[in-house]
Parts: sequence; structure tokens; C-alpha cells
Amino acid sequence: MTTLDVPEHNSQMQHGGPDPDDTPSSPDRNPRFADIANARLSRRTVLGGGLAAAATFLMGSQPATAAPGGNGRGRGRGRGRGNAPTLGFDGIPGDTTDMISVPPGYSATPFLAWGTPILAPFPEWAPDASNSAADQQRQMGMGHDGMHYFPLGRSSTNGLLVMNHEYTIDDQLFPDGTADWDAEKTAKSQAAHGVTVVEVREVEPGNWEVVRDSRFNRRITANTPMTVSGPAAGHDLLQTGYDPSGTALLGTLNNCSMGPTPWGTYLTAEENSNGYFRRAGDETAEQAELLDRYGYSEFGFGYLWATTDARFDTSQEPQEPNRFHWLTEIDPMDPDSTPTKRTALGRFKHESAAITTGTRGRVVVYSGDDERGDYIYKFVGNRPWRSYRGRGGSPLDDGVLHVAVFAEDGTGHWEPLTLDNPALAGQFADMGELLVKTRLAADLVGATRMDRPEWVSVDTRTKDVYVSLTNNRNRGIDYPVDAANPIVGNPNGHIIRWAEDRHDHAAASFTWDIFVIAGAHPYDPDGEQDVSDVGFGSPDGLWSDPDGRLWIQTDGSQPIDSNDQMLAADPSTGELRRFLVGVPQCEVTGVITTPDQRTMFVNIQHPGDSGGSDWPDKVGGLPRPATVIVTKDDGGVIGT
Ligand code: FEO
Ligand code: CA
Ligand code: CA
Ligand code: CA
Repeated sequence: MTTLDVPEHNSQMQHGGPDPDDTPSSPDRNPRFADIANARLSRRTVLGGGLAAAATFLMGSQPATAAPGGNGRGRGRGRGRGNAPTLGFDGIPGDTTDMISVPPGYSATPFLAWGTPILAPFPEWAPDASNSAADQQRQMGMGHDGMHYFPLGRSSTNGLLVMNHEYTIDDQLFPDGTADWDAEKTAKSQAAHGVTVVEVREVEPGNWEVVRDSRFNRRITANTPMTVSGPAAGHDLLQTGYDPSGTALLGTLNNCSMGPTPWGTYLTAEENSNGYFRRAGDETAEQAELLDRYGYSEFGFGYLWATTDARFDTSQEPQEPNRFHWLTEIDPMDPDSTPTKRTALGRFKHESAAITTGTRGRVVVYSGDDERGDYIYKFVGNRPWRSYRGRGGSPLDDGVLHVAVFAEDGTGHWEPLTLDNPALAGQFADMGELLVKTRLAADLVGATRMDRPEWVSVDTRTKDVYVSLTNNRNRGIDYPVDAANPIVGNPNGHIIRWAEDRHDHAAASFTWDIFVIAGAHPYDPDGEQDVSDVGFGSPDGLWSDPDGRLWIQTDGSQPIDSNDQMLAADPSTGELRRFLVGVPQCEVTGVITTPDQRTMFVNIQHPGDSGGSDWPDKVGGLPRPATVIVTKDDGGVIGT
């Protein structure tokens, strides 16, 4: 057993495996502004050091582009289309109690806790965790994470909640924890992973129920049959002993965030799938390079699946890892549909998927790779997305994956990951190989090593894009600071935003700035914003609501005396207000409202993962991850 050294996600490390984000694997050979990166506190420091021309550029004097937050005509920030969003609630203080805190005039009600039955014969939750694997298959999974509400019709009182179950705490999943591990325990742990589709309806304001006779209710788990599309479908690197075709995949794993598509499906992000494997160490040199870069280790996160399921033992299935770390598309409206891994979107530790459209209706998918020193990606479809749908194809199978390069002067560009990129010449036999090895390709094109990219969110009003960079204690130690990642040992993280050129999400370049640097006193290093007293750290979940409020969720120890929390920001002023505080040791993650914005769903993941919580049941038993329904007592729009 090794000593663990990272508070975050520690509940995944039940058996002494390494933290998923604690083993940065991006190599040192990238250009990283090593010659010019003297930023220590802010980009303004850098700009003040002789890049005045760039500063002028950032102020919006370039006609072809606009500073983030602008509308292409005005200067600076905060001039998005439409009115500025309203933050009408009273911000609340930090809190350490085992209760969900929300502002005065709001209510918070737990819903859909782990173990809630959703499929016949509706096995009831057993408070001693004695439910079988077969029961778990019919209940809400564990580790609630990214989530979306798909209205039935246009209803704000009846729809499908679709949510990810990122990981399990196997010490809580069984009455005797991980003792006497057997195939039944593996099956239950696997069944508690994946995705839930559940029809819900409001029976009275703030009170929702599971629609038990819904034809839509579905559990997708680590064992659900999947197919695969795009350039890597059927590739040699995806073939296994049990599936020589390389097309009949099983399961989705470590599903973190997600994104809804314009055509009504759900893209789920497979993040730390490496944590479930046991690496034998007998692989070929080529396999070893790939396993190293994707963080595979002898015991993963300590899961015991490999002891009963050969799929997760690399000595038996050395290419099974290549069948994870994708974005997987699920059609919640078709319960008989087969989930599809979309390989054109790249293979990395997908934290998130933010889907929007660029010029000519081309689909654009932003996604962060959450590891210290890893990258931000963007897929751009080749043709209008509707043209594929009309022919029965997928807009997600035909396009170009790019990786972000942030320049010191506040500009940036998207480097294409294609065989004809000169930096990649001769490196990969075909696009299938390149995509399976996405991280290796991105290493070669000079992508900017970021402080753990988490969620990406698009403000549909201004078209600004936001990414949370949760923290990175290795910054400035193992590799230099740079303008986009300016804090040595970045303890609390920051949020960057960018505006694509011409406000076209399909554009090849962009301008960017730091929106906020988190801490006990968050600040904007560009000096456009006063120091805030709304302290927060480790931003993770991000969501721009339809009015442009930016909801910020945290995952990690906070720089103030508080449990993890959710804030709302007004992007036009930078103002922050604290809206919700979770329970001890939880992470607040996943947020969506109904279309009328009068009901908000927020997920609480791993409450009390080291003791200290019996939420939401409050009867002295196991804590359970659950959704929180937030309503305004006067029935108004959330956040106003
Ligand atoms: Fe799934 Fe990076 O948290
Ligand atoms: Ca700024
Ligand atoms: Ca997360
Ligand atoms: Ca996180």
C-alpha cells in the first residue's frame, strides 16, 4: 500500500492506487513558452512587461476579433447580446454542516439517491447496502455527476433526467466493504457505474417523482453492449480476444460530465477509465507507451474487478483500455438504441463535452482532458450537422479534432490533429491510430499544458466559452508557469474564457483572458474586477444558463471554512454570489434546469466519503450521492 497524497477523488483509491490526476504523463518535450514565461501572478504582469501591443489587441482594437465578453463592436467585456443576467438572490455564507444550504426564499429537496429503484420489479434500497448486483442494475447508480434534463414535449414538469455515475465507493457499496471480493461484487460495482435515464415528473411544486411505468427508464452500465463509429471503429487497436471485430464494445466507465447535442442525444464523457484496470507489465513497448501516457498502473485506483473479470486485466486483454476514454453518444428517447463511442472526438480523459454549432451549422464539441498538464480539445464537423442526420449518418463521425494552443499575448489557435499536420508527419499509420493515441498526437503539436481542464461551457448569448482549470500543484515546479496558467502550484484553480474569431465556434483561432482566479479572495488578474470576498477553490462543474449566469461548482478542499459549493457569476461584471453549499466531503457537480428555469437539479457526489455525513437520509446510516431539486419559493426563475 502506498501513501496517498491527494484529497480529491481519494474515495476512488480504496486500495492504495495512485490518484488519477496525480501522475501527469504529458511529456516535457512540448514548447511551453519556457523562454518568455515570466508570469507569476497574472497576465497583466506579463503584458506590463513589454507586450503593450498585445494589450491593445486585447482591448478590442483588432477589427476581426473581439475580446471575450464583447459583441464584436464594443470594447472589453460585458457587452454580450441581450441584457446582463440577473443575480437576484442573497448570497449565502460558507457552511460546514451536513445540510444543503441555499439562499433565503429557496428550497432544496433530495431526489434520486443512489439505490432508488427505477426499473421493475423496483427493488427497494437496502440501507445496509445488501442489494444484489441484479438489484443495482434496476436502481440509481452511485457517484452522480454530469446531468441533463430532456423535456418530454416542451414540458418543464415531465421529462427525462439523464445522469452519469462517475465512480463507486466500494467500501460503501457492500455491507462488508471489499472483503471476500467475488464476481457478484464486481457485477454490482459495474452496475453502479454508467448512466441512468429516468423519467421524472413534478407532482407539486418542488416535489418530483420517478415515473415507474415509463418506457424510457434505463440503466447503462460498465457491461452494456455498445458500438463504435468514426475512424477508429474496428481498428486493430480496438480488437480484443473476445471481440476480434473491434466493434462490439462493452460498457462505459468513469462517466464525468456530459453534453446534450442539438439533435437531442446525450454525449457522456469517459474520464479516468484507467482506474479500473490492473496493469500486468508484460505489454509490448508500443502498448506500454500508450498505457503510460493514459495513466495505467499496477493497481489502478484499487478496484478489484480484474480479480474476477479478465477484461480489466491487461495481461489478458491488453487492448481493452483502448476501448475506453471516448465520448459515448446515448439516445435517451430511444430505449432500444445502442450507445455509440464516437472516435472522431478523440481518446483522452474526457472530463466534459460542450456541444454547439459554428458557421454553416457545423457541429463543434469542446472537451477538456482532466489531468495535470493536459489539454483542451475542439472537434469541428466538416459539413452542416443536419446534412448527416438527413442521411442517417452522424455529425460526430466526420470532422477534424483540434487541440488548443494559448499564446502569451491573449490570442490562441486550434492545432488540427490530422495526418497532414507537418508536426505529425509519419507518426501514425492512419487516423484510427492517431485517434486512439490522441494524447500522443497532441503532445507533438505544441498544445498548451493546462492546470487540469474540467468542464467547458458555452454562453449561448455572447458565444464566449469558459473552461474551469481546477488546480495544479505541479505548475511552476515540474513545468513553468505561462500566461494561461500563471500561478505557481496553483492551489485553488482558475477559469479561462475565450472568444472564437468572428464569434464562430468553428474558427481556427481565438482571443482569451482569465475570468477569475479562485481563492479565499477571488480576483481577475486583468484588474477589471474588484477582489471578491466570495471565496472558492477547485472550480469543476460549469454551466452557462440560458440567461448567461455562469454556475460554478467546486470539487476539492475550499480556501474558506466551507464544504464544496456552487456559485453563480455574472459574466458581464464578474460578480460572484454563493448559491448552494453541499454536505461534508461531497463534491457539487452536475447542474441543469427545466426549460422554464423554475426547477434546478444539482448533483451531490460522494457525500461523507471519509465519514461525517449521513445525508440525505439523516438516520445515522450510509451517506448517499443524490440529486437536489432547487426551487424558488415564489415559483420564480432560479437565480433571479
Ligand atoms: Fe470527473 Fe475531473 O472530475
Ligand atoms: Ca479577465
Ligand atoms: Ca469533475
Ligand atoms: Ca475535479
